[in-house]
Amino acid sequence: MVEEVEEEASAEFSFPPSDPVLYKDIKEAGKERIKTSIEELNPVFGGGVVLGSLVLIGGEPGIGKSTLLLQMSRDFALQGEKVLYVSGEESLEQVKIRGERLGLRNGNLYFLAETNLERIISHAEKLNPRVLILDSVQAVFSSKLSSSPGTISQVREAANQVFRFAKKGQVSSFLIGHITKEGSLAGPKSLEHMVDVVLYFEGERDHSYRVLRALKNRFGPVSELALFEMGAKGLKAISNPSAFFLKERPTEEAGSVVVSTIKGSRPLLAEIQALVSSTLFAGNPRRMTIGLDHFRVAMLLAIVEKKMGFSFSGEDIYINVAGGLSLDEPATDLGVIASVVSCLKNRVIPQDVVVFGEVGLSGEIRSVSQPLARVKEAESLGFKTVIMPQGNLSHLEKEDLSEINLQGAKNIKQALGIIF
Ligand code: TYD
Ligand code: MG
Repeated sequence: MVEEVEEEASAEFSFPPSDPVLYKDIKEAGKERIKTSIEELNPVFGGGVVLGSLVLIGGEPGIGKSTLLLQMSRDFALQGEKVLYVSGEESLEQVKIRGERLGLRNGNLYFLAETNLERIISHAEKLNPRVLILDSVQAVFSSKLSSSPGTISQVREAANQVFRFAKKGQVSSFLIGHITKEGSLAGPKSLEHMVDVVLYFEGERDHSYRVLRALKNRFGPVSELALFEMGAKGLKAISNPSAFFLKERPTEEAGSVVVSTIKGSRPLLAEIQALVSSTLFAGNPRRMTIGLDHFRVAMLLAIVEKKMGFSFSGEDIYINVAGGLSLDEPATDLGVIASVVSCLKNRVIPQDVVVFGEVGLSGEIRSVSQPLARVKEAESLGFKTVIMPQGNLSHLEKEDLSEINLQGAKNIKQALGIIF
């Protein structure tokens, strides 16, 4: 518990004073956008960054937020936009070291090492940039408040002042916010309702890939995401995520299957692996899942036991999504079941098979969204057979899918029959 003294802050997120306007005279927002040269990044913003929008980018310390924003700044500057990057955490020398790695060149790219909010805004007003980046909201403080940087009132005041600056001058502004896994996110989280766009930058410590996803976007669809790999020269978009996540898939091993899942709005092929081995804990075998919902997997195992007549009571079961991905849609159900049965029976699932489908409690396979996108992704990576819900097949009749063999299944018995 931290005491916060209530203080007089600026009025919350007030627009500049204005008179009532006729609906037909209101200018449409979201028309003017600036794009980055990282193609995969633009959809996350709904097709480029809207002029005058306020964007919050949250993520754990060290995940690559500064790197991403620096790369975006470079792109904007190369397009002739004036950019002001305010660094409240790192000295300009440190920024320079990173900039050299990222290949920053000349261009209208200004840096300011400053933590006093009023001074930042006054510099920004003088410079009049098109893009403002505040790295980070937790590092700056307003001299109007006596609380220390990073407290809720300071973070809100920072967002508030940048908000007004962004709206007044049509400046696209970015706030970087640190969020830790344990959920110490009091600061940035409390800004989510105030900003136009909320993006989260996530990744696993032990993996080089990063995911940028939109949680909220007033100018475009949410749940869009972009995948990046952190390398020696900064972040690089992964243009073919499916190939990336499948590149180390074992061949001719039981317990491995490829599922076609939807991440954001795009299809992604991922490998589910299962290991079934006799337990040492009679009566209380282990059930471990990584990257999948534990309760859903328990339910699927119960369905297989009931409908297929297998018994898992003497078996430890481990299920893992390769590459540290996490999958959270029911369309992966059939993949979970196929991988477990494959390992249990020691029967290899052919390399060129992809499965997807939601499984209900009676063992029925239910239709899922976007079957065409899932099938096309499998086709484009050279897979030959897709085992999928019967109910989805009719939607694909008119499509030209001559390169791939589609097999519909009504229930898990039928599906496993086709797979093996
Ligand atoms: P950074 O952008 O500083 O993270 P954040 O601003 O979210 O705290 O990223 C820091 C990490 O990224 C650091 O561990 C070093 C690594 N990194 C690379 O691997 N390659 C690079 O080119 C750069 C600039 C950083
Ligand atoms: Mg940083």
